[in-house]
Amino acid sequence: MGNTRFIMSMLLLNLAVSFSTRTRTNIHTDQAALLELKARVVSDPYHLLTNWSTATSVCNWVGVTCGSRHRRVTALNLTDMNLSGLNNFTGQIPMALSNCKEIEIIAMVSNAIEGNLPNEMGNLTKLQFLDLRDNLIQGQIPADMFDRLPRLQGLYLEMNGLSGRIPTSLFKCKELQDLLLGYNSLEGTLPKEIGNLTMLRILGLGNNLIQGVIPQQIGDLRNLEILSIFSNTLLRGPLLPTISNLTNLRIIQLSNNSLTDCKRSTWT
Ligand SMILES: *[C@@H]1O[C@H](CO)[C@@H](O)[C@H](O)[C@H]1NC(C)=O
Ligand SMILES: *[C@@H]1O[C@H](CO)[C@@H](O)[C@H](O)[C@H]1NC(C)=O
Ligand SMILES: *[C@@H]1O[C@H](CO)[C@@H](O)[C@H](O)[C@H]1NC(C)=O
Ligand SMILES: *[C@@H]1O[C@H](CO)[C@@H](O)[C@H](O)[C@H]1NC(C)=O
Ligand SMILES: *[C@@H]1O[C@H](CO)[C@@H](O)[C@H](O)[C@H]1NC(C)=O
Ligand SMILES: *[C@@H]1O[C@H](CO)[C@@H](O)[C@H](O)[C@H]1NC(C)=O
Ligand SMILES: *[C@@H]1O[C@H](CO)[C@@H](O)[C@H](O)[C@H]1NC(C)=O
Ligand SMILES: *[C@@H]1O[C@H](CO)[C@@H](O)[C@H](O)[C@H]1NC(C)=O
Repeated sequence: MGNTRFIMSMLLLNLAVSFSTRTRTNIHTDQAALLELKARVVSDPYHLLTNWSTATSVCNWVGVTCGSRHRRVTALNLTDMNLSGLNNFTGQIPMALSNCKEIEIIAMVSNAIEGNLPNEMGNLTKLQFLDLRDNLIQGQIPADMFDRLPRLQGLYLEMNGLSGRIPTSLFKCKELQDLLLGYNSLEGTLPKEIGNLTMLRILGLGNNLIQGVIPQQIGDLRNLEILSIFSNTLLRGPLLPTISNLTNLRIIQLSNNSLTDCKRSTWT
């Protein structure tokens, strides 16, 4: 009898633990997450988020897209709604967003998002595009942020205040096509693992503090169309032999660094 009770309580304990650690998410969790995000918007002068209310389905809210099969939020796009500069997200990008487990696209260009990139973003395993250009995000990119983002195709973090190194976990994102990290304060060398990103079309690293020799593995990026590495004053070559096989390359921006084999008059 006592034994049965013990087993029962162990079972209940297990249940409680699995409920708390693997909280089920659904469209209501998505809605709650976005309402929490809305609550952090200090100013919405054109009242674009007015229909973000429980009176209408989250799938009809401005800037929100749901998947047709599962009716879960798959995209959040708060770009070009004149929230920019006026919209005032204060504090960190809400952790609540990490409950939108089916989300594939997050775009919040030109807002005033402050704080660090939250680790939790790395748990949005369906994420394909993360576009946070032109915000006030600071600090290091979390080292393990890309460990579980195998579908990432576009990462746009240009024009923020990011520092530290480019985390190695990023080079696990084998489907990455657009990598825009320009206009930050990223430092360290460019790792040879960059050559793993064979789908890459755009590599934008301009105006950072990246230094050292450009790895030969850049030559493995056969799909590269745009190579923008200007204004990393301590970045060294040789570059031209390395990129000689990159037949898709259309735009190269190399000014204001320490490359030796590129004439400024022909390569800008
Ligand atoms: C919310 O607003 C958008 C843009 O004004 C509109 O397209 C959408 O239909 C609205 N949704 C509802 C449920 O009113
Ligand atoms: C977000 O919306 C803007 C404006 O409507 C559009 O130009 C942009 O392509 C969208 N971004 C994504 C990732 O869908
Ligand atoms: C956004 O602001 C610009 C300039 O302030 C204005 O021309 C445009 O009409 C506005 N768009 C909307 C949708 O309010
Ligand atoms: C954003 O909100 C903070 C806190 O309410 C305020 O101090 C700041 O002036 C606001 N910034 C803008 C651009 O509205
Ligand atoms: C990410 O998910 C894993 C597994 O579900 C969990 O153990 C971890 O705490 C989560 N990390 C964050 C930062 O939310
Ligand atoms: C890069 O690719 C090599 C060879 O396929 C692999 O051994 C290595 O683990 C990859 N690195 C990362 C960071 O994914
Ligand atoms: C050269 O690059 C440095 C470091 O990124 C930057 O601060 C500086 O403004 C750049 N100079 C020019 C002339 O672009
Ligand atoms: C360019 O391609 C040729 C032929 O595949 C190869 O032999 C050579 O090593 C490549 N050069 C570089 C710099 O990768």
